[in-house]
Amino acid sequence: MDLREALSARHSVRQYEERSIEEETLNKLEVFIREINLDSGLHIQLVKNEPKAFSGTLAHYGNFSGVNNYIAVVGKKSERLEEDAGYYGQKIVLYAQTLGLNTCWVALTYTKVPSAFKIDQGEKIVIVISIGYGIDQGKTRSSKSADAVSNIDSDSPEWFKEGVEAALLAPTAVNQQKFKLVLIDDKVKAKAGVGFNTKIDLGIVKYNFEVGSGKDHDIWV
Ligand SMILES: Cc1cc2nc3c(=O)[nH]c(=O)nc-3n(C[C@H](O)[C@H](O)[C@H](O)COP(=O)(O)O)c2cc1C
Repeated sequence: MDLREALSARHSVRQYEERSIEEETLNKLEVFIREINLDSGLHIQLVKNEPKAFSGTLAHYGNFSGVNNYIAVVGKKSERLEEDAGYYGQKIVLYAQTLGLNTCWVALTYTKVPSAFKIDQGEKIVIVISIGYGIDQGKTRSSKSADAVSNIDSDSPEWFKEGVEAALLAPTAVNQQKFKLVLIDDKVKAKAGVGFNTKIDLGIVKYNFEVGSGKDHDIWV
């Protein structure tokens, strides 16, 4: 599976098999996270064999089970932190999908276990991502239309159409899809709407758009 295939194969998965992540897969994931941290300046950490975060009432309410591993998205406090957390976290999510792993972004329905990861001075934890072998591959969900989130029309270039389709496959908090993608000449302006976690959503959406359109980070105004 390549990254483009991962866009449509990925759905939130909240129930996992109890088995550990295979060693080779784990090594690839850890190398990838290290590279992402070097590139982004974030302090993302893979937390292994830690069942407490997803065994409290909140996780139960959120319908999680079998979560023993998760990714803690930590970084230096800044204006950009939430969007970067979304963008680089989604890079890890799609890569994990190509490795045969399932994931779910989780801002609320988990318990913080401070001893499980490091938060250095000036940093904070933005969100976590559960990870492991799902009991299934998750479900397709409802989506807004391309018109509702962009200025797409029949004359739009193919790359923009494909980017918008990929953006609509992006996970957003409570599936709110509160973002706008506006094609201006040969660049795209991405705007977050008003709501919970919409800046994290925007980072996720931007990475999905890049994978779908085949453009890189220079596409953004
Ligand atoms: C920023 C963000 C926060 C989220 N927080 C939670 C959460 O606290 N609990 C949960 O069960 N799902 C959470 N989700 C998962 C969303 O509900 C899910 O991604 C959305 O419904 C779309 O479904 P999909 O991921 O299958 O495309 C979150 C997703 C995002 C992007």
